[in-house]
Amino acid sequence: MVGELVASGNISDSGWEAAFRAVPRHLFVSRFYRGDANGSAVIDSGAGNEWLAAVYSDTHLVTTEDVRSSSTAPSLMASMLQALELTGNERVLEIGTGTGYNAALLSERLGADQVVSIDIDPGLIVEARERLEAAGYEPLVAVADGVNGYPVAGPYDAVIATCRLDYIPAAWLQQLRPGGVIVTPLGAGVAVLRKTGDGAEGEFLPNPAYFMPLRHQPEPTDIAELIQVALNGTGISRPHRFDTSMYRDDEARFWLDLTQPGVRLVTVDGVALAFRPDGSWARLVDGLVVQGGPGFVWDDVKAAHEGWLSAGRPSRERHRLRVSSAGQDVYLVDSSESRHRLEPLQG
Ligand SMILES: C[S@@+](CC[C@H](N)C(=O)[O-])C[C@H]1O[C@@H](n2cnc3c(N)ncnc32)[C@H](O)[C@@H]1O
Repeated sequence: MVGELVASGNISDSGWEAAFRAVPRHLFVSRFYRGDANGSAVIDSGAGNEWLAAVYSDTHLVTTEDVRSSSTAPSLMASMLQALELTGNERVLEIGTGTGYNAALLSERLGADQVVSIDIDPGLIVEARERLEAAGYEPLVAVADGVNGYPVAGPYDAVIATCRLDYIPAAWLQQLRPGGVIVTPLGAGVAVLRKTGDGAEGEFLPNPAYFMPLRHQPEPTDIAELIQVALNGTGISRPHRFDTSMYRDDEARFWLDLTQPGVRLVTVDGVALAFRPDGSWARLVDGLVVQGGPGFVWDDVKAAHEGWLSAGRPSRERHRLRVSSAGQDVYLVDSSESRHRLEPLQG
């Protein structure tokens, strides 16, 4: 697997090549789940070659039955680790321990005493700690909510997250040394930011990235309830002529997630729905858009899409992000004019 990742150019740094060769992925992915319409099947060492071949392939593997954790595809892990631009002496905070595999790679490269890894799920932390010990690494792993960072073990030279965020948490910036780097899934991309003053600035990796969302404590909304409201609610309707298949375009999707965080587009029983955590919803049926809730989520989706088209359909690596106490601003790389600002989160 590592040989293929090197040959394809996904691993180009010799330090990371050595770390990937040294850490056995099978110790961390002792089982994974494969789902289809009939439910999910667990695949573990009992499945012999099928299990081993999947573990040593460039594949994302779901590692909990409730699909709350997974082992990221190794090529994407390598891109993110390389984007940290480590020299070998840095102290790193990882958000989203999951199986512990990424924490093991960081420990191999930096020494375990320079690695701190947190996950919100206590059961995962217990298992990850055991696996890390079995592989010969003892980084600090702890149960904590990633939005708060982990101040007691900081400051850090780098923060790497392996769950999807919409906003860069202020706590990460506070716990980062000057010039420190953040590599994190943000919407459907991976942002690579450098700390500058009190804020941070940077660009996006070219890789498409669809990570599991960071879970908030407590969970702010019940998704199943929102879907029912969007399917059955009475709202304001008008004709619509918007082709929802546009959102199969990966770059259009990237722009939507970046500028309209929290908006979800799903198809349930053949009906296209949009909703977001503030309770706004839209249903697209028979050439009509029906909208309800505190805002008009479909109008916002459409406006975002038109903004992306009028900018010439820019790809994710043509965007820059600047994070400050004023909010998150998105620019095109060749322009100093902010194309979109997300206000800072309150509280
Ligand atoms: C893609 S998995 C991480 C994969 C992991 N890095 C590995 O090498 O196996 C995402 C992880 O983020 C964790 N997570 C979700 N919300 C979180 C939060 N608020 N704080 C910390 N971890 C969180 C999940 O429990 C899940 O284990």
